[in-house]
Amino acid sequence: MTLLVNGVVAPEPDDPDMSLVDFLRGACGAVSCRPACRVGRCGGCMVLLDGEAVNACLIRMWRLDGRDTEIVTLEGIGRYPEGRILQEEMIAHTAFQCGYCAPGFIMAALPFLIGDDPEAGEIPVVLAGNICRCTGYRSIGYALERAVSRVRAERSGCRADEAAAG
Ligand code: FES
Ligand code: FES
Repeated sequence: MTLLVNGVVAPEPDDPDMSLVDFLRGACGAVSCRPACRVGRCGGCMVLLDGEAVNACLIRMWRLDGRDTEIVTLEGIGRYPEGRILQEEMIAHTAFQCGYCAPGFIMAALPFLIGDDPEAGEIPVVLAGNICRCTGYRSIGYALERAVSRVRAERSGCRADEAAAG
C-alpha cells in the first residue's frame, strides 16, 4: 500500500492492529488527531481519508493494507483555502475554550465547506458527530456559519469575475 499523510509517504506501521489515530500521532507526528472516547463517539480524532471525514480511532491499520490511501490531518489543511477561512473564523469568534475538540470539528466541517454548495442550514448535521466537553457549540457553529458565508461569497465573486471576463 502507499499511505500518504499530508502529502508525505508514511512509514509502514509496526503493528497492523494499531489504530489509525495512534499511528498518525506516533509515526507521523500528527498530534492534532486527538483521541478521547476511542469508540467513535466524540469526533476528536477526525481526519480526512480519501476526502471523507472519518474517526481515526475506529480504523485499524490492516484495513488500509493493499490500497492507496490519502490521509489529511489538521496539519495538512493548508492546501484548502476553505480550511484557512474556517480557522480564521474560529479564532475570530473564540470557538476554543480548552481547544481539545477544535481539530476534530474543523476536519468534520472541511469536506462540507469544500463541497459544491455548502448551506448554513446543514451545519447541525455536519457537526453532529463531534463533542465539545467545554460546550462551546454555539461559537463553533457560528464560526462555521461565517465560514460558509465567506466561502459562498468568494465563489460567487469568482463566478462573476469569470462571467465578466467572458
Ligand atoms: S476518539 Fe475517535 S471518536 Fe472519540
Ligand atoms: S473547547 Fe474544550 S472540548 Fe471543546
